Amino acid sequence: MNHLVDSFGRVHTDLRVSVTDRCNFRCTYCMPAGVVTFKPREELLSFEEIVGIVSVAASLGVRTVRLTGGEPLVRKEIHRLVGMLVNVEGIDEVTLTTNGLLLEEQASDLFHAGLSRLNVSLDSLDEKTFESLARFNGLQKVLRGIATAQKIGFQTIRINAVSIANLTEREVVPLARFARQQGLTLRFIEFMPLDASEEWTADSVLTGEQVRKILVDSVGPLVQQKQIDPGQPAIDYRWADGIGVVGFVDSVSNAFCDRCDRLRLTADGQLRNCLFSTVEWDARQILRKTFDEREPSDWKKEMALLLHDCVTAKARAHGIGTEEFERPERAMYQIGG
Ligand code: GTP
Ligand code: 5AD
Ligand code: SF4
Repeated sequence: MNHLVDSFGRVHTDLRVSVTDRCNFRCTYCMPAGVVTFKPREELLSFEEIVGIVSVAASLGVRTVRLTGGEPLVRKEIHRLVGMLVNVEGIDEVTLTTNGLLLEEQASDLFHAGLSRLNVSLDSLDEKTFESLARFNGLQKVLRGIATAQKIGFQTIRINAVSIANLTEREVVPLARFARQQGLTLRFIEFMPLDASEEWTADSVLTGEQVRKILVDSVGPLVQQKQIDPGQPAIDYRWADGIGVVGFVDSVSNAFCDRCDRLRLTADGQLRNCLFSTVEWDARQILRKTFDEREPSDWKKEMALLLHDCVTAKARAHGIGTEEFERPERAMYQIGG
C-alpha cells in the first residue's frame, strides 16, 4: 500500500476533520470578540464528501479520524457522520473533541453511532473564569454534558484545559481534583499562537512544566508514563497513588512535531499538513469538478495524489519561537483543534 510518508519519514495515520467553523462559545484564545463571519453553508463539505475523502485517506493508511470544529456538535445530525465514518473500510476509530455545551442532548446518539472516545474542553470550574474565557455562561451545562456522557457508557472521556500565564494557574488544582474524583483523564495544553485576536506572546504561555510544579506542590507526586501511542501529542503522568492520569501537550515549550502523524481537513475542504500550515491543498475542488468529464475512479486517484503532495510538503516542525515562524492566516476555530 502507498502510505502517506513525509520527507522526514513520518507516517500519517490520523486525520482530523473539522465539520464546521461555527461555535456556540467565543473562547478568547481561539475566536475574535464581536461579530464573527462564518463560511456559508455551501462552502462546507457535505457528509458524503467528507466520507469520500476519508475513504481515500484510509486506503493510504489513515486509521483514526477525529472530528473537530469550531464546535462539531453545532453541525446538524453529526452523529450520522460518525455512523458513516465508522463504516469506512480501514478506519479503526472515530473520536470527537467538543466544548461540551450540547453533549447532554447528543451523547446518546453519538455513543450509539459508534463514537469511540470523547474529549471535552474545560478550562475552569469557576463560573466567572469559565465565562470570561468562553465568553459564554455555560459551565453547569458542560458539567451535565460530561456526566451524561459518562452515564451513557463512554469509557474514555478526556478534559482539555488550555494553560495561559497569569490567568489559569488557579484552575489547575481544582481541575485535577475534579478529574480524579470523576474518573476523567485530564490534559493541559499550552496556549498556542492560533487565537484570532493575535494576542498570544511567548510570555502568555503557562508551560506544562509550570503546571506540573503546581500539581506536585498541591496535590501530590506524578510519575511519567511510557508512551503507548507514539503519535500522541501528550506526555502522560500518573498520580503516584495510582488514581488518574494527567497529560501535557507542551506544544510550545517541547513540541511533539518529531512524532506527528496528523493531517487535517478543514470544514471547507482544504487539506493541511500541520496546525501551523501556511499552505492548503484544495480537496473540495476535486470533489466538485463535474463528474461527467471523467471516469468515476479518477477523482480517487486525484485525491490520493493531493494527499501525497500535502504530506510531502510537510515541514519538520512548526518553529514557534524562531525567526522563521509565520502565523497561519486562519485561527484555531477555522482550522479545527
Ligand atoms: P488523540 O487524537 O486522542 O491523540 O487526542 P488529541 O489530544 O490529539 O485531541 P484533542 O482534539 O483533544 O487535542 C488536544 C489539543 O492538542 C488540541 O486542542 C490542540 O491544542 C493540541 N493539538 C492537537 N493536534 C495538534 C498538532 O498537530 N499540533 C500541535 N502543536 N498541537 C496539537
Ligand atoms: N492554543 C491551544 N489550544 C487551543 N484550543 C483552542 N485554541 C487554542 C490555542 N490558541 C483548544 C481548545 C480545545 C481544542 C479544540 O483546541 O481548548 O480543547
Ligand atoms: Fe469554540 Fe473550541 Fe474555539 Fe472555544 S476553542 S471558541 S469552544 S472552537
